[in-house]
Amino acid sequence: MELENQIDKSRLPRHIGVIMDGNGRWAQGQGKPRVFGHHSAVESVRATVEACAELGVSCLSLYAFSTENWSRPEMEVGALMQLLVDTIGSEMETLLKNNIRLRAIGDTSQLPEATRDALAFGIANTATNEGMELILALNYSGKWDLTQAIRQVAGEAAAGRLDPTTINESIIDQQLSTREFPDPELIIRTSGEHRLSNFFLWQAAYAEFYFSPVFWPEFRKPDLYAAILDFQQRERRFGKTSEQLT
Ligand code: IPE
Ligand code: IPE
Ligand code: MG
Repeated sequence: MELENQIDKSRLPRHIGVIMDGNGRWAQGQGKPRVFGHHSAVESVRATVEACAELGVSCLSLYAFSTENWSRPEMEVGALMQLLVDTIGSEMETLLKNNIRLRAIGDTSQLPEATRDALAFGIANTATNEGMELILALNYSGKWDLTQAIRQVAGEAAAGRLDPTTINESIIDQQLSTREFPDPELIIRTSGEHRLSNFFLWQAAYAEFYFSPVFWPEFRKPDLYAAILDFQQRERRFGKTSEQLT
């Protein structure tokens, strides 16, 4: 049976996060500049977005630019920022056709103006779509997210609107940039690296991790199906014993 048909549609991860990694190494392995890898990655993004929307996944988060990625060569950062502008434009048809709503998390105020404008256009243009939420993590990091959440909670407490003894997990959840989305149930990282690189720190508390050796520019629908099938074979115990789950 084809991989896609083996997936149990009633047990899909509600939220999938992808750490899209390996663009640079993939390009360099072919004697090409790193940015060639970034450009080729657009095809992988389209395949993954389409596959998730077709299956009926509710939320897909793509880690596109971390707060640490500013340390890359200026030329590469510039190319990534321009690529975002071009891709939001070129992929609008795919988003509209699949009823996808574009969202963004991260400190987008620090992005170049053209990138902010393209993002604002993409978000506004898909705002009434009711299908999958496609969340771009841009200038995002888990530590940034927790820091801004803590800052807001502390502000509320300092203003006397919140009693610090009442702070609980749900109050923190409500200040995170992901407040409107369920926690990711499956986090995929490509390119054979086994780390979170400051992605969803709080939100990944009970996520299942799937590591693929495939470099991101070569990632296609069957790779996504394989990750979901692997997820569906796992027993998610949430601290309980196996017997308690039956
Ligand atoms: C992922 O690919 C893209 C971003 C982080 C923006 P990389 O550019 O990290 O590729 P490698 O890991 O250097 O091969
Ligand atoms: C993680 O990839 C960030 C994104 C995919 C946006 P990196 O390539 O930047 O991570 P490290 O530096 O290898 O940890
Ligand atoms: Mg990398």
